[in-house]
Amino acid sequence: MATANPTGTESRSRVLLTRRIPSSLLSLLESGASVELYDGPTPIAEDELKRRLSGKHGMVSVLTDRVSAGVLEAAADLKVVANIAVGFDNIDVAAARARGIVVTNTPDVLTNATAELTWALILAVTRRVVEGDRLVRRKGWKGWTLDFMLGTELRGKQLGIIGRGRIGRAVGERAAAFGMHAVFAARGERTSDLPELSLDELLVSSDVISIHTPLRAANRHMIDRRALARMKRTAYLVNTARGPIVDEEALAWALKERLIAGAALDVYEREPEVFAGLLELDNVVLAPHLGSATRETRTAMIELAIRNALAVVHGKPALTPVP
Ligand code: DGY
Repeated sequence: MATANPTGTESRSRVLLTRRIPSSLLSLLESGASVELYDGPTPIAEDELKRRLSGKHGMVSVLTDRVSAGVLEAAADLKVVANIAVGFDNIDVAAARARGIVVTNTPDVLTNATAELTWALILAVTRRVVEGDRLVRRKGWKGWTLDFMLGTELRGKQLGIIGRGRIGRAVGERAAAFGMHAVFAARGERTSDLPELSLDELLVSSDVISIHTPLRAANRHMIDRRALARMKRTAYLVNTARGPIVDEEALAWALKERLIAGAALDVYEREPEVFAGLLELDNVVLAPHLGSATRETRTAMIELAIRNALAVVHGKPALTPVP
């Protein structure tokens, strides 16, 4: 909110932006606030973030920014952290709430892009597209034969979806196009007419399992050795949600021992690092966190985050506060 200072002149709201954005969107942010841009080559370090947040009313953040309780404590004037992501596990939301700081995310606008990427990964791993590409590039392809690089067909198979939010449902809606039957992991009381199974039933009976649940303390390493061992030996695991939901070391073990047929990951426990054991395996597709990476979606995400930040710094309710 613009406030009168002791000299009687108006001072504009001040917002920290932690990544460069397209100029048209920067202009939108600048239309409602004075903007300071952090444009470093790596994610902003905690000390630098604390320093730059001093005197700021808003922050437009990305998922590689660690907005800890300590950072928030140092930001006395901060009213809003507008994350350009649907996930918000990079922000200590409880600490923000305790200080009256609004945290917002970007739901809806990335649902389609993430669902499409999920299907790209499902198809890539079940039809061995990336493995085949590697073979061709290293001149290892000796020609067509009847039993060469056989994959798995999706039609008639079960897709087990962990997470019943927008993205999980969007992935499920697209299953029919491939002749798959989608089931969802039950969570507490039944609140919808979605076909549901308990997590254990879903693990043992699904042909492809796709994760679409936010990261919480309770689901860190939800997919561990035990869960992987419950899956069919012919099944595939796909994760486009958050890396720490899957124990990468356990996954590498299960893939190496052929306890499951394959996996496709877009997210990792310690991005951009990937567990070394996974890099050696042919039956895993590794994408570099591309879930929302389309021009259309990134534009919409940035715009929504800006509108959230401007709303709150101007004393209005956020459009999409985190639940
Ligand atoms: C999100 O928005 O949380 C996604 O992971 C970004 O791709």
